[in-house]
Amino acid sequence: MSYKIACLPGDGIGPEVATSVKRILDAIGHQFEQQFEVSHHLIGGAAIDEFGVALPDETLSACKQADATFLAAIGGPKWDHSEIRPEQGLLKLRAELEVYANIRPLTMYPQLASASPLKSEILEGTDFIIVRELTGGIYFGAKSRHSDYATDECKYSVEEVERIARVAFELATERNNHLTSVDKANVLETSKLWREVVSRIGEQEFPQVALHHQLVDSCAMKLIQSPSEFDVILTENMFGDILSDEASVLAGSMGLLASSSVGSRYGLFEPIHGSAPDIAGQGIANPYASILSIAMMLRWLKLPKEAESIELAVSGAIDSGILTKDLNSSSDVTTQQAIEAVVSRINAS
Ligand code: IPM
Ligand code: MN
Repeated sequence: MSYKIACLPGDGIGPEVATSVKRILDAIGHQFEQQFEVSHHLIGGAAIDEFGVALPDETLSACKQADATFLAAIGGPKWDHSEIRPEQGLLKLRAELEVYANIRPLTMYPQLASASPLKSEILEGTDFIIVRELTGGIYFGAKSRHSDYATDECKYSVEEVERIARVAFELATERNNHLTSVDKANVLETSKLWREVVSRIGEQEFPQVALHHQLVDSCAMKLIQSPSEFDVILTENMFGDILSDEASVLAGSMGLLASSSVGSRYGLFEPIHGSAPDIAGQGIANPYASILSIAMMLRWLKLPKEAESIELAVSGAIDSGILTKDLNSSSDVTTQQAIEAVVSRINAS
C-alpha cells in the first residue's frame, strides 16, 4: 500500500529530529513492501517567519489530505514577543483536525532506570498511559485581556467529556480494566461535570472497568511516590499537559515519550517534548520520541508489524548504549547516529 505522510518539522530541534521520519519510513517501506510518501510543511515560528501565520492554509490542507501527520516541535524565544505565537499553529491544527484524544504512553526501559532521578524500587512495574483531552477546556475557551486583568474561560460540554471518556475506558479494557480519572472536582465546576459524566459512562458502558477518581494535586504527588499504581489516567487538557511532563521524568527523559492525537478521522503524531531552543542546531537532540511517535502512527494506520519493528529497533539501540546526552551526560552520540542505529536494526530485522 501507499501512504501519504505530512511531516511538520516546526522549530528548534524539530527539524533535526524530524529527519528521522523519512529515514525510518523508507527503511520500513523497504522491509515490509509499503510505500510512504513524505511531504514537508511549515508550522509555528518557521511559518510565521515565512508567511506571517502560524498555520498556513497550505499546511492545513496537506495534513487533511494526508493519511497521517507527524509534527516535531513548536516555539522558541525568538517569537516570545511576536504578536502571533507559534503555539497557536499547533492549537489550531489540533482543533481543525478534531484530534480530541491525546494518548501519551509512559514506556519504561529498564536499562535506563538510572537515567531517572527516582529510585529504581519506586519505578519498578511502572507502565501507564495518559489520555489527555486535547481540543477543549481552558486552552480553547474565550480569552480576554484588559489593562488591569485578564481571563481564560474553561468550558467542557457533556459530549466532549463522553467521547474522551470512551477512549480511555476502551484502552483500559485492552489493558488491566483499571482507570484513574483526574480532576479538581473539589473546586471546579467543569471538574464536577467531568466526574459525573465519566462515572455514568463507566457504569453504563464499561462496568468491568474499576474506575477511581483522583484530584489532580494528589495525582501529581502519587505519580512520583507510587507510579506503578497507575494504569490508564484520564484527564482534561491542561492537567494532562502538566502531568505528562511530570511523568516523563519517570522514564528518564522527555526525549523518549511519544504521543498520538486522534479523533474520528485524522491522526497527528508528535513527541511530547518541546523545541528545546537551548540545544537546537547542535545535532544532539534525542530522536527516539519522534521515532516512537512514527511507530504509534503506523499502529494507527493498522500496520502493527511495522510499528513493532520500530519499537524493537529503538529498544535494541538503547540496549546497545546508543544514547544521546539527555540520557547519558558523558555521551557524544548525535541525533543522526541514533537515527541510523534504529535504521540499521530495522534493516536487519
Ligand atoms: C504539548 C505542548 C503544547 C501544549 C504547547 C506547545 C502548546 O506543551 O503538546 O504538551 O501545551 O499542549
Ligand atoms: Mn506540554
